[in-house]
Amino acid sequence: LDLLVELRPAGGATLRARLEDEIRAAIRAGRLAPGTTLPPSRVLATQLGVSRGVVVEAYAQLVAEGYLGARRGSQTFVAARPALPAEASAARPASAPAPRYDFRPGVPDLSAFPRRAWLAAGARALGGLPDTRLGYGDVRGAPELREALAAYLGRSRGVVAAADRVRVTGGTRQAMALVYRALRARGVRRVAVEDPGWAPLARAAADAGLEPMPVPVDDDGLDVAALAPLGAGAVVVTPAHQFPSGAVLAPERRAALLDWACASDAIVVEDDYDAEYRYDRAPVGALQGIAPDRVIYAGSASKTLAPAVGLGWLVLPRWLALESGGSAPLLDQLALARFIATGELDRHLRRTRRRYRRRRDALLAAVAAELSGSEIAGIAAGLHAVVRLPAGCDEAATVANARALGIALDGLADFRLTPGPPALVLGYANVPEPSIARGVAELARALA
Ligand SMILES: Cc1ncc(COP(=O)(O)O)c(C=O)c1O
Repeated sequence: LDLLVELRPAGGATLRARLEDEIRAAIRAGRLAPGTTLPPSRVLATQLGVSRGVVVEAYAQLVAEGYLGARRGSQTFVAARPALPAEASAARPASAPAPRYDFRPGVPDLSAFPRRAWLAAGARALGGLPDTRLGYGDVRGAPELREALAAYLGRSRGVVAAADRVRVTGGTRQAMALVYRALRARGVRRVAVEDPGWAPLARAAADAGLEPMPVPVDDDGLDVAALAPLGAGAVVVTPAHQFPSGAVLAPERRAALLDWACASDAIVVEDDYDAEYRYDRAPVGALQGIAPDRVIYAGSASKTLAPAVGLGWLVLPRWLALESGGSAPLLDQLALARFIATGELDRHLRRTRRRYRRRRDALLAAVAAELSGSEIAGIAAGLHAVVRLPAGCDEAATVANARALGIALDGLADFRLTPGPPALVLGYANVPEPSIARGVAELARALA
């Protein structure tokens, strides 16, 4: 029954609160597995050199919160908690045979990567680089890239960004780890996340010792009214194109979200992961542009270029400073800076937008022709769509049947924290049009 608990000093917090925090963090991080029996309060109190009452009260609080359970005979144990969903697409073993049709969401057309222009941008950037720049640089990112991003995000997304507010990262996952640590240091304990949503956002929150609180999403995006009772100090949203439902946050909800943040002194983190791609609706500007001191803006090159680029960015409120960890390779940053500043990114976006629209249209037509009784949603923007299956349809069986037929895709359950109606999430950007039609025809077999 040894239990490794270290009561770290925590600015003014009581012993009991510190003990609760330690045990909560150990449970969230998986160091204390469900079912583990905790030491009797007397034993732990002696081990920690605190009074028994401190441990008794901490255990009681954690039982009330559902982290712990109590058995007869006064044994205390770690309760089973609903697991955060694993990262659906990434969960596939590397050795699995390549699918015949790959509808997994989250990947742009990898064959469209602008190799020549990228190589040229990198070569020019390196060619003109003085030797002194090959040492350690600014942890916030290369000044050239921060300038280029500030200008690009300002004109294309309405982001209020001066270069000194921009922080270059190794992508959104790494960015969120930095953001969550900074929020925790400011006293935030709970962070609201969209449900369904992108699992790494909730997972990174738990890894940083924050409690992710699921908030439902409907056709108008995040249910902002459901935020108030949660006591969250921050919320992470995808307002331009909710992941994975595809909903756009309705104008009245955008206003209500910022009102909530101001009234409760909370922070909004805006994940603008694929907003460049929109097909038949007017662009929706970034929330950050309305409240730059309340909103942390996060973007990434993973959808516009390719995940392999491994670069992302944050635009931060002036009052927020991040730790120095997690900078990105300078030569890649300089290549991207040049790629943006010379107009190559805009050219690439124009080309890929046309291509993705055609693929989106092919998916719409194929679903209408092949999947009667299903309904497609979230199609106005982005790189994926949601196919709502007929009521009573078994989503898990459909996904398993599809995979057996060589069709890779995710069920909406892969992104949910709480169960909901059956649906599939189909990425179309990386699938050529003829394969979309054939793949959906095969999918009809999986459904049947
Ligand atoms: C909702 C969402 N945000 C952000 C990203 C980009 O993450 P990264 O920059 O770490 O590739 C993705 C990629 O799938 C995503 O689905």
